[in-house]
Amino acid sequence: MAKIIKTKGENKPEKDEHNDDFDGIKELNNPAPNWIILVFIATIGFSLFYGIRYFGYPGNEKDQVSEYKISSAEFDKAHGQQPDATKGGPVMGQEEMLTVGAAIFAQKGCIACHGLKGEGNVIGPNLTDNFWLNGCTQENVIHMITEGKPEKGMTPFKTMLTQEEIKSVSLFILKKLVGSNPPNGKAPQGVECKP
Ligand code: HEC
Repeated sequence: MAKIIKTKGENKPEKDEHNDDFDGIKELNNPAPNWIILVFIATIGFSLFYGIRYFGYPGNEKDQVSEYKISSAEFDKAHGQQPDATKGGPVMGQEEMLTVGAAIFAQKGCIACHGLKGEGNVIGPNLTDNFWLNGCTQENVIHMITEGKPEKGMTPFKTMLTQEEIKSVSLFILKKLVGSNPPNGKAPQGVECKP
């Protein structure tokens, strides 16, 4: 009867046996099946093709970063927006930001402490003059709105507004409120902004 499981004979030397015999430990010559070698060669071939196609030479623009840039540029073109150099993505235009900023200023509680028109009141300073307690650059203003100054009564808005919203309201303050000269403006506080 044929054996179901073939074992290499232990005593008689096999023809595919290597000649190494060390303390009775033998190394057999069992080559991998052809199909697995074919798969192996195919994966090497594919990796060469893939590497050259996507990363191979400068300017072929097939890698992910380039593809992303190309398609976001197409998107910007289709939607008539300028790409924002700082974020690498489509953003609101300035007019849209000013509208959004005005709505936030009116609806998110700023007017309670800075007045309906930003003129200031007993709590918060006038945001329509060009005198600043905490600096007058857009970064300063964004920082104030983001982190607030709780010890002086300015609420931090980082959990209540998105980065984009904070940027919009800061733009609204700097472009629309500053210089608007509303009635009953609170006396200037801080230092005048020198450009
Ligand atoms: C609870 C009251 C309160 C609310 C609400 C509030 N602020 Fe203020 N804010 C203040 C006070 C008080 C200061 C002055 C802090 C100081 O003494 O430096 C201030 C300062 C600021 C400053 C800096 C002014 C400067 O002279 O440096 C900006 C900008 C500002 N607030 C924007 C906003 C915006 C935008 C909102 C709404 C999203 C808002 N604030 C909501 C009370 C408030």
